Amino acid sequence: MAEISVIEHIHSMQLKWSPTATGQFTSLLHDLILSAKIISRSVTKAGLVDILGGTGNINIQGEQVQKLDDFANSVMIYRMKNCGVVCALGSEEEEELVIIDNAGERGNYVIFFDPLDGSSNIEANVSIGTIFSIYRVDDNTALTKENILRKGSEQVAAGYFLYGPSTMLVYSTGHGVYGFTLDPSVGEFLLSHENIKIPETGKYYSVNAANYDKWAKEDQRAVDMFTHGGYSLRYVGSLVADFHRTLLYGGIYSYPADMKNKNGKLRLLYEANPLSFLMEQAGGLAVNGQGNRILETMPEHVHMRTPFIFGSVREVEKYRSAFG
Ligand code: AHG
Ligand code: MN
Ligand code: MN
Ligand code: MN
Repeated sequence: MAEISVIEHIHSMQLKWSPTATGQFTSLLHDLILSAKIISRSVTKAGLVDILGGTGNINIQGEQVQKLDDFANSVMIYRMKNCGVVCALGSEEEEELVIIDNAGERGNYVIFFDPLDGSSNIEANVSIGTIFSIYRVDDNTALTKENILRKGSEQVAAGYFLYGPSTMLVYSTGHGVYGFTLDPSVGEFLLSHENIKIPETGKYYSVNAANYDKWAKEDQRAVDMFTHGGYSLRYVGSLVADFHRTLLYGGIYSYPADMKNKNGKLRLLYEANPLSFLMEQAGGLAVNGQGNRILETMPEHVHMRTPFIFGSVREVEKYRSAFG
């Protein structure tokens, strides 16, 4: 495969799909990539520098904030505030939406991100990642909560960085899903996975059954079909790693609601929406606890949670059949 960088790839996509592009999106992607390279550098050295462990703070989610959560969030916030093309952002680690009104030209993009996904795995050196979701707003759109919090179907791009055995970027602008692998000797993400499509069916199911007895009967019935159906269980506990494996190998992932968390644990705007956008672009399905498209969910607030089920068409339809 020719060595194609992300920026070269996005230019080729824009030539084909949006010839009037202004370069704003390319500039945003460049700053996202730089952020990820800086986060990746710290992730790979985490055991050697003082960046492991908790900060002692609790975030809006009620979670212990890890030092890497904080670091990744500060890197992303700084870059998105200064890239000149973002007018508002939402982060897992920021209680409120952040409106960016630098003097001069207002940016046309809104971004939601999970700066570091899989924090509980950091100390164990298990793959973690960064997830992002991008919307476009016109120059004269008032930056009200209603105009910023939109359905996932209105995303113009979404993706994730995966800090694993290799550091990868997987993204889509609505014209297929493309994977890039960071070549440290060049310092660039180079195209490694052209137009990813999820297999129609797969043998893995991915679920944390700790709260099984608190699930709805339908979710219990659905997961039982996989537990006793010859499927192999794979659960990393970093959503971005479980997603990436499901995308490449097929199968199904489920994080249902339970009696304690009636909307499940995963967050709509910076986990479920971006990954659902990618899953549908790759020919898979992504639904909530009623079997409805995640991308049609109307956000009520920036940290809204949702039950999240995604994967190969065959397995998601099988899961849905348990809902009668
Ligand atoms: P984050 O680290 O960004 O807070 O996300 C954690 C999420 C997701 O990454 C992971 O799949 C899930 O929480 C794991 O939840 P359980 O520990 O309940 O399985
Ligand atoms: Mn968290
Ligand atoms: Mn997360
Ligand atoms: Mn996170």
